[in-house]
Amino acid sequence: MDRLNNPARLMIVSDLDHTMVDHHDSENLSLLRFNALWEANYRHDSLLVFSTGRSPTLYKQLRKEKPMLTPDITIMSVGTEITYGNSMVPDNGWVQFLNQKWDKNIVMEETRKFPELKLQSETEQRPHKVSFYVDKDKARDVMRALSELLEKRGLDVKIIYSGGMDLDILPQGAGKGQALAYLLKKFKAEGKLPNNTLVCGDSGNDAELFSIPDVYGVMVSNAQEELLQWHAENAKNNPKIIHATERCASGIIQAIGQFSLGPNTSPRDLKCSSECKMEDTNPGHEIVKFYLFYERWRRAEVENSDQSLEKLKAVCYPSGVFIHPSGVERPLHDCISAMKNCYGDKRKSLRVWVDRVSSAQISSDTWLVKFDKWELSGEEWQCCMTTVILRSRAASLSDGFTWMHVHQTWLEGSGAKDQTNWLF
Ligand code: GLC
Ligand code: MG
Repeated sequence: MDRLNNPARLMIVSDLDHTMVDHHDSENLSLLRFNALWEANYRHDSLLVFSTGRSPTLYKQLRKEKPMLTPDITIMSVGTEITYGNSMVPDNGWVQFLNQKWDKNIVMEETRKFPELKLQSETEQRPHKVSFYVDKDKARDVMRALSELLEKRGLDVKIIYSGGMDLDILPQGAGKGQALAYLLKKFKAEGKLPNNTLVCGDSGNDAELFSIPDVYGVMVSNAQEELLQWHAENAKNNPKIIHATERCASGIIQAIGQFSLGPNTSPRDLKCSSECKMEDTNPGHEIVKFYLFYERWRRAEVENSDQSLEKLKAVCYPSGVFIHPSGVERPLHDCISAMKNCYGDKRKSLRVWVDRVSSAQISSDTWLVKFDKWELSGEEWQCCMTTVILRSRAASLSDGFTWMHVHQTWLEGSGAKDQTNWLF
């Protein structure tokens, strides 16, 4: 991972289903709270790792359904596949390592003897993972009998039960915990061991994450029985692991606060930007704050006043320009004036978030900030790659920024049907 030159301030390693992503939260409020916190306060110096049971196919599917950030590292198929960055470059060293004492054909052959095991879909069968469904009451017996059989055949496997229904068979060296241990070892060798690591999970396949030495852990409030039981039997006295009182991503934010791992107030929890703390001021924070106001304006969740638009104009350079993704160029001040007609035009329906915010200081007081800006309106998803030039208003950053220039281009395949509706 060479995005950061220094050790990460915080590395979050989070499961997705029912941990980062709450499938019972149709508004995705806790996920959006986390996203805003991450991009405003952590993206520039920390690492986000998603660790999921899903195969690459189902992982990509989830990213189309939920407003998820792009992680720095993706661990898929219950710790059997590790990829880096947005382009998901695979870690081939990990694949090699997993071939030890593993033979998928033998696993297939032996599992056929168990009528209780129902094979999961084709996409979820991976080179180092064979997955089934099995009823809760049969799981224990099947797991015991199966591990005996496979051992006799010379394999060294790990059988994991999750979510009260999924049974995964992996090489012994695989799993979410082993994959994390592998990454930590790599970071250590590079002299980039994260200052703090927080693991987050809700079900059986996450248990291993909590047994890695020196990491903080949060079991979200909605964690499954099997994980809570594992914790009671194996890690009850570890003060670095908590069972949050909040669900999913909100439980993660809660843990950041409880363990004092860094800022834990999501910009989404603040009614107005003036509530922000001075030390939070950085280019990422400025971007998140701006687009939050923009969302709230169009949802009619802030006061409809000329004054707020004037305030916004005051932070834009008078001759600054906005290049719309259609190519049309307009003064920034005109774009803000145009917002007047859009107050509340997307009541209840619009959500805006930014992803992959990166900034580079290009002179003593100027930053070039790049990010993906997403809008979800009803069923329609749109994204623009955005570049902004920010200039700090005084010697100190805490005096805020002036927006000098904004340039957007449609992310491939994401052009808005109605381009006039795309304001910023
Ligand atoms: C995900 C995977 C599934 C696996 C389960 C538990 O749902 O799609 O194959 O069994 O996680 O690890
Ligand atoms: Mg889960």
